[in-house]
Order: sequence, then structure tokens, then C-alpha cells
Amino acid sequence: MRLAFEDVSYSYEGGEAKKKRKGRADRQADWGNAPDAVWALRQVSFAVEPGEFLGVAGHTGSGKSTLIQHMNGLVHPTCGRVLADGRDLAEKGVASDVRRSVGLVFQYPENQLFANTVYDDVAFGPRNMGLDAEEVDRRVREGLELVGLSFDELSERSPFDLSGGQQRRVAFAGVLAMEPAVLVLDEPVAGLDPLSREEFLGLIRELHSDGRTIVMVSHSMEDLAALCDRILVLSEGRVFRLGTPAEVFADAPALKSVGLGAPAPQAFASALREEGFKLDRPLYNEKTLAADIAAQMKGRGGNG
Ligand SMILES: Nc1ncnc2c1ncn2[C@@H]1O[C@H](COP(=O)(O)OP(=O)(O)O)[C@@H](O)[C@H]1O
Ligand SMILES: [Mg+2]
Repeated sequence: MRLAFEDVSYSYEGGEAKKKRKGRADRQADWGNAPDAVWALRQVSFAVEPGEFLGVAGHTGSGKSTLIQHMNGLVHPTCGRVLADGRDLAEKGVASDVRRSVGLVFQYPENQLFANTVYDDVAFGPRNMGLDAEEVDRRVREGLELVGLSFDELSERSPFDLSGGQQRRVAFAGVLAMEPAVLVLDEPVAGLDPLSREEFLGLIRELHSDGRTIVMVSHSMEDLAALCDRILVLSEGRVFRLGTPAEVFADAPALKSVGLGAPAPQAFASALREEGFKLDRPLYNEKTLAADIAAQMKGRGGNG
């Protein structure tokens, strides 16, 4: 599925101003006429291509969460359109249709667990889709298996008795059980310990290599550099950059101006360049940086 944003703006203004505007033909004309409104998104245009891994970065308050809530029609643009395979998500019935294909995992999704058993929590989405009991059962097993939880050990337990990391897995399984083609994740590893973090990132990588489209909001430039095909950088609700990690992280001063850093190995590489090291790769990770430094040290020391 392709998700296209066309000139999308969104404001969290109060209901009154919104009501007054409703029905007026040219909503775009209101742009700038609502000085008190918080414009969380401003004229955002881009598309999530089928099968890609798109990262979303930006300072706190830059509009990341607002943006991704547009992707399954949970929130509708104040101005502009979001199209899912060409269908406008604001049109009647389209969002509920698209919600089956676009799975949204909120930040701290464990806070939304509610059922008495893990089974019922994971089954909630599939049941809502009107699937029969046998298919729901298959989906619950599949969802739990994908996130590495044992169906036999956990399905009848209360989700509230589990550890934080397990709870997040259960919440994740509930979305995966809907078998979405597009998975949208809002800071999926925030607050996890280092081991769970790595496991989760590995899981997300696998879900992508299985063919799912992934959109991931993250504060970690290292994670974005390691996982994404492209990165969208937001600043004050606008698209600041959109490109491959190498393109986006090439301009460290620009990123700094919107409150973001480059991945640590990339920043280290530019410091080393200033010290005379010849480091030609457009984007460095720990391994490639270590390899290039080692090669030059050997050359300098003559012991290689
Ligand atoms: N429920 C809300 N009501 C009013 N303003 C909001 C609400 N949620 C977010 N905002 C505002 O919208 C802007 C974008 O917020 P958000 O999308 O949460 O950014 P991010 O996820 O990048 O931190 C911020 O100015 C924020 O204060
Ligand atoms: Mg957010």
C-alpha cells in the first residue's frame, strides 16, 4: 500500500473554530487566519512507498506523532489529503477499510492493554474485523509467536502480571494479529532496557524483511541510520529533510539547527576527518568506521 500526503496541515485548535469553518469551500484560505491555533503539521507532502522502511525524526513537538496518526485515518487533515492507494482517507468508509492494512502501534502501547487475559487482548483487533473463532485463534497464535512469546505459557495470564517488556510485546502482537501490510510504530523502543531494545529492533527488522512496509518514529539516529531506507525529518510541523540516511546525515550543521545530532560514528568520523584521517564513506556505522581507521593505522605504523 502507498500512503501519500498531499499538502497536509493539521491544527489542534478548539472545536469552535473548526465548526465555523466546516462547509466552507476553500479551507486552504484559512491558512494563517487562526493565530491561536497550534499548527502541528504545515503543508506536509511526501509518500510512504510500498515495502520501504521509512524513519521519522524530529525534535519533541515537531509533529511526529500527529503525522503518523494520519496514516490510518485516526486523525484527518485540517487542510490537504492523505491517500491510501489513491483513496482519500477522509472519505466515508475509507479509513475503516484502510485500518485493516495499516497497523498503528502507539508510544507506550502497553498502557492500552485492557483485557483480562493476554489472549483476549491480542484477539481484540481480529475479532473486531469480524473473523471467525478459528481464524482469530490462528491470528493470536501467530501474533504471539512473531513477538517471541509462548502461547501456551502466557495466553491465559493477565497482561498486567507480565513484565514491562512482555506487556509491550503483547500490545505489539495485538496489532500484528491484524496482519497489516503497513506497520506504523511511534517510538517503539522508548523506555526499554538495552537487551529488550535490541530484541525489538531485530523483530522490527525481520517484519520488514518479510515484506511489510514500516514507518518508525525514533529519537535514536543510530537506529534510524541502521534500519531505514529513507528518513523524514520534521521541524515545527514541516518537512525539513527527506532522503536516505547518508543524504540526511551528510549535513550535520542543518540537523543541529533543528535540535538533532548525527549518529555517533558519523559524528566521530567527521571529527577524525578534521584530524587528517581520510574517511570517504558517506555514512559510517561502528563497524565501517573501525575498519577504515584500522586500515589507516596499519598503513601509518607499517605493521600491517
Ligand atoms: N492533544 C493535543 N492537543 C493540543 N496540542 C497538541 C496535542 N497533541 C500534540 N499537540 C501539539 O502539536 C504539536 C506536535 O505534537 P506531536 O505530534 O505530539 O509531536 P512529537 O510527536 O514530534 O513530539 C506540538 O506543538 C504539541 O504540543
Ligand atoms: Mg510523539
